[in-house]
Amino acid sequence: MKITVFGAAGNAGSRIIQEAVTRGHEVTAVVRSHKPSYDFPAGVKVAIGDASQAESIRALAAQQDLLITATRPQPGKEHELLEITHTFMDTLKDTGVRLLLVGGAGGLEVPNTQGCLVVDDRQYVPLAWRDIAVACTEQLNICRNSQGVNWTYLSPPANFAPGERTGQFRLGLDELMLDEQGQSSVSMEDFAIAMMDEAEQPKHQEMRFTLGY
Ligand SMILES: NC(=O)c1ccc[n+]([C@@H]2O[C@H](COP(=O)([O-])OP(=O)(O)OC[C@H]3O[C@@H](n4cnc5c(N)ncnc54)[C@H](OP(=O)(O)O)[C@@H]3O)[C@@H](O)[C@H]2O)c1
Repeated sequence: MKITVFGAAGNAGSRIIQEAVTRGHEVTAVVRSHKPSYDFPAGVKVAIGDASQAESIRALAAQQDLLITATRPQPGKEHELLEITHTFMDTLKDTGVRLLLVGGAGGLEVPNTQGCLVVDDRQYVPLAWRDIAVACTEQLNICRNSQGVNWTYLSPPANFAPGERTGQFRLGLDELMLDEQGQSSVSMEDFAIAMMDEAEQPKHQEMRFTLGY
């Protein structure tokens, strides 16, 4: 498949690129500017682009099967995530190009709480993270309210960080996943596996799913 990744140099984006390249896909990594520290796998095409600009998305979506967005706004600019999501939805409408989004855990339901969301539970989202968690939750609503775009939103569990590629994780839908010790986590490497599995064999079109150990 031809896959273009926005947020390519980020923690999640770079791991998704590695997974996609390993599986033999034709990958374009989108960065806002070239930096000497960027080190993409051999064969990855690097393109300059900005997910907040419709023209940029339109140009980079041409002839692609799939876009993946893994952008993260700077603290204090969380509204940018919403603007970017609207721009993706408006620009990809009726193009047939799929969109996979690296989402947040905020909009997941905490188990056994009759619908309490992660974003409202200080155990998972301390005040310092609330703004990005709220933005991620709203990002999902933008997807759900969109029309004419084949999107999939993958929510990580509460703890989502670089780690090991194990391939040992479980999938869920709208509820935060907890392991036997009550922990909610997955490595970004395993998240990338789930994202690329979905890219290759879509099972969650126009819906959110999640994962965890
Ligand atoms: N448990 C959770 O819910 C959880 C935990 C962690 C992360 N996340 C989510 O996962 C996603 C990715 O996070 P991350 O940690 O991988 O982020 P990251 O390492 O900070 O990387 C974000 C990337 O987004 C790029 N970016 C920002 N605005 C952009 C724009 N307008 N156009 C193109 N690129 C843009 C940045 O590029 P520059 O280098 O040019 O700035 C950067 O490379 C975020 O949505 C975050 O909220 C969720």
